[in-house]
Amino acid sequence: MPFRQEIANAVAPVLQVDAQQILDRLETPPDPAMGDYALPCFPFAKNMRKAPALIAQDVVGAPMPACVKEARVAGGYANFFIDKAQYAAQVMRRVDEQGAQYGAQNLGQGRAVCIDYSSINIAKPFHIGHLSSTAIGHALYNLYNFMGYKSIGINHLGDWGTQFGKLLAAYELWGEGTDIETGGVNRMLELYVKFHAEAEKDESLNDLGRQWFKRIEDGDPVAMDLFTRFKETTIREVMKIYDLLGIHFDSYAGESFYNDKMDAVVQELRDKHLLVKSEGAYVVDLSEENMPPCIILKSDGATLYATRDIAAAFYRKKTYDFAKCLYVVAYQQNLHFRQWFKVVEKMGYDWAKDLEHVAFGMVSLADGTTLSTRKGHVVKLEDVLHTAIEKAKTIMEEKSPHLENRDEVAQQVGVGAVVFGVLYNARIKDIAFSYERALSFEGETAPYVQYTHARCTSVLRKAGTLDAALDMQALCGEFAFPVVRLCESWPQTLVSALEKNEPYLVARHLVELAQAYNRFYYEVRILDEENAAQTAARLTLTRAVKTVLSTGLGLLGIGAPERM
Ligand code: ARG
Repeated sequence: MPFRQEIANAVAPVLQVDAQQILDRLETPPDPAMGDYALPCFPFAKNMRKAPALIAQDVVGAPMPACVKEARVAGGYANFFIDKAQYAAQVMRRVDEQGAQYGAQNLGQGRAVCIDYSSINIAKPFHIGHLSSTAIGHALYNLYNFMGYKSIGINHLGDWGTQFGKLLAAYELWGEGTDIETGGVNRMLELYVKFHAEAEKDESLNDLGRQWFKRIEDGDPVAMDLFTRFKETTIREVMKIYDLLGIHFDSYAGESFYNDKMDAVVQELRDKHLLVKSEGAYVVDLSEENMPPCIILKSDGATLYATRDIAAAFYRKKTYDFAKCLYVVAYQQNLHFRQWFKVVEKMGYDWAKDLEHVAFGMVSLADGTTLSTRKGHVVKLEDVLHTAIEKAKTIMEEKSPHLENRDEVAQQVGVGAVVFGVLYNARIKDIAFSYERALSFEGETAPYVQYTHARCTSVLRKAGTLDAALDMQALCGEFAFPVVRLCESWPQTLVSALEKNEPYLVARHLVELAQAYNRFYYEVRILDEENAAQTAARLTLTRAVKTVLSTGLGLLGIGAPERM
C-alpha cells in the first residue's frame, strides 16, 4: 500500500472523515526538513470545532503505521517523517513490476471517450492555429487510453459551407485539369483569394458561387466529383503531417456527414417546443441562460455549424455510447459550445453533462509573424515542423556527430520540440512559439527531457549487469530522494491531468523529474566500484526515471530516442 494511503488510513478516524479526504489534502512540504508529508488541518476546524493546531496535535497522537518514523505539529499542520529507505524500496519495486504500464489505472473501465480534435477545414492550409488542437487532442487520446478508457479520435472535417460553392466557381473560371492535385491546398487558396478579389469588382461571381453550392447541396455528380477532389487532396496533404506526428484518427466524419442527420434533430426540437421563429430564422431561445439564441435554421432553411454539432453529438452517443465527448477547440468558440450544449440539455438528455469543451489559447510565432488567412499569409504547420527538424539536425551535427540514426533522432527532437512547446502551459494561455526556446537542450523543453532519457539509457548501458543486493539508503539522500518522490507521484499526476484534461501537468512533471535526475547525476557518482549495493540502488532509480520519462513522452506524442 502506498505510504500516503497508510498515513491517510491512520489519520482518517481521528478526523472522522474518509481516507480519500485526507489523501486529497496531503501535501509535500516545500522544505524537506519539515517532513515528507504534511496535512493542513485548517479545513477540518469548522467540523471539529477546534483550532487547527489542536487538531494537528490529535493527528500526530494517533497510532501511526510503521512507515511513519515521526509525526510533528507545526502550526496548523501535522508533518510526517517517513522511513525513506522503505519508501524508496516500495516505489522502485512498483515501477519495476509495472514497467511501461507504471502509472496506468483502469479509471475508464473500457468506456468510450470521443475526442474531437484537429478538425481541419477543407481547402485551407493546416496552419499553426491548428497545432494546439492537434497536440492537446493527441495527448488526451493517449492519456485516456492509458487510463482504461477507449479513445475515439474524431477529425470533424470542415467540409460544408457556401465557401465551397465559391471555390468550385473559381475552379470553373480559372482552374485547369489536375492543378488541384498538383498544386494542392496552396492552389486552392490561390483560387479562393482570387475569387474574392474578382467578386469585389463583379458582383455576379457571387451568384455563380451560390449556383455551385446549390449543385453540391443537390448532390449533382459533377459538383460532387469536383468537391471530392478538393477534399481528398486536402486530406492527402494533411496526412503527411499526421504521419510525422504519429497521429491516427478513428473517424473523419465531418460536417457534411451530418447532412441527412439534421432533419431528425430539427423535428425533435419542434416536437419538444424548443424551436421558435425569430426574424425569419428558427432558433432555440437561451435568454434565461443569458446567452444569445442558438440558431438552428436560417431563414432560407439552411442549417448551421451548431445544427451539425448537435446532430454529430447524437450520432456519437448512439454509435460509441461515450462516457465523455471532448471538443478540443480554441476558446474563440466558447459561446458556440455553451449554446448548443445547453440546447441538448434542454432537449432532456442527461448526457449533455458529458460534453466538454476543452478550450485553449492562441499560438503565434515569437518572431512577430502575423497570421491572416484572408490575405493568404499563413504560417503553415508543415513549415514550422520542418524548420524545427532542420534546426535540430544542425544542433545534432554539432553535439553528436557520430550518431548513427541522426536524421531519425533529429526528426523526433524537432517534432517533439514543437509539440512540447504548445503542451507545456495551461491550455488557456496564449503562447508565442519560439524555435530557439523550444529547441534548447537546457530549458523546459522536449529536447531536455529526451536528452535526460538518453542519459539514463547511457548510464544503464555503461553499467552493464550488476548482481548485487540493493542498498536503499543510497536513495535517501538530498539528491536521490526527490527523484524517488517524483517517481512515486507520477500516477497521481496522470489522474489530475485526466480529470482536468490538462496535458501540461504531464509535461511539467517530466521536466521536474528530468531536473531532479540531472542534479542527482551531477552531484552523486552513480557508478561506484567500491560499493556495488549502492550502485545497484542508483541504477534501479535510473531505470525508474527512464521508464517514467519514456512513458510520459509517449503519452504526449513525442519520441524518446535511446541515444542522442
Ligand atoms: N473546423 C473547425 C475550425 O477549424 C473546428 C471544428 C471543431 N469541432 C466541432 N465539432 N465543432 O474552426
